[in-house]
Amino acid sequence: MKLARPHKGFQIIAHRGLSRRYPENTKLAYQAALSQHIDMLEIDLHMTKDGVLVGIHDDTIDRTSNGKGAIKDLTLDQLRSFQFANQLDYTLGISIMTFDEILTLCKNYSKTLLIEVKKPKIYAGIKETLIQKIKYHPFPNNRIIVQSFDQSFIKALHQEIPYIHLGVLISKRKYWLKQPLFHEIAQYADYVNPNYQLVNRKFIQRAHEHHLKVMPYTVNDIQTAKKLIQLGVDGVITDIPNEIFKL
Ligand code: G3P
Ligand code: CA
Repeated sequence: MKLARPHKGFQIIAHRGLSRRYPENTKLAYQAALSQHIDMLEIDLHMTKDGVLVGIHDDTIDRTSNGKGAIKDLTLDQLRSFQFANQLDYTLGISIMTFDEILTLCKNYSKTLLIEVKKPKIYAGIKETLIQKIKYHPFPNNRIIVQSFDQSFIKALHQEIPYIHLGVLISKRKYWLKQPLFHEIAQYADYVNPNYQLVNRKFIQRAHEHHLKVMPYTVNDIQTAKKLIQLGVDGVITDIPNEIFKL
């Protein structure tokens, strides 16, 4: 079946993998998303006690696994002793994935990887570890975008790896009453990705004036998606990627 997208160039991004159907940020969710007609796979990264980047949203494993504790206090071996699952069904025996393993998995698909680095300030050496992986893993650089809520982290990445596409995430909490400094962000990033509730014509116009693309998160209902498309967003980060193709 031929799948249309709202307009040419519009990016459909699967949030934490196909996370409505499979445990978020796991191999099952990533693989399922990669097999769809999506453009990008969004993942979240934290770093273990022994300095390994892993795919997980929260800074603890409490919500998504049968274990407890902060990622920064657990080694990779310790993390691997826990199962990750939805709805407390741990019988599938799904382990956490390292960033290396995620890159290797994604290499065989033609999708772009939208990598969100979570809380970089709490992980000493995370910038160097990430750069090392991006530089030396055979995953193509032109299929990587790194984004974070931490603008200073993205700025620092731009200074060291200016050839990698970068994005700044814009939270409702910080930007409800003020606009981002688009002209400053445009000096080091290619994307300004807001909470969808912050998007209006002015936001998009100002971002586009500075050649910044806008891909709001997390767009999980059709009416909202339609409205955002009319406003002119460049893509959506969503838990329901297949529904967006029907618009
Ligand atoms: O891609 C941006 C979006 O994922 C940010 O929110 O909490 O789902 O990581 P969160
Ligand atoms: Ca995320």
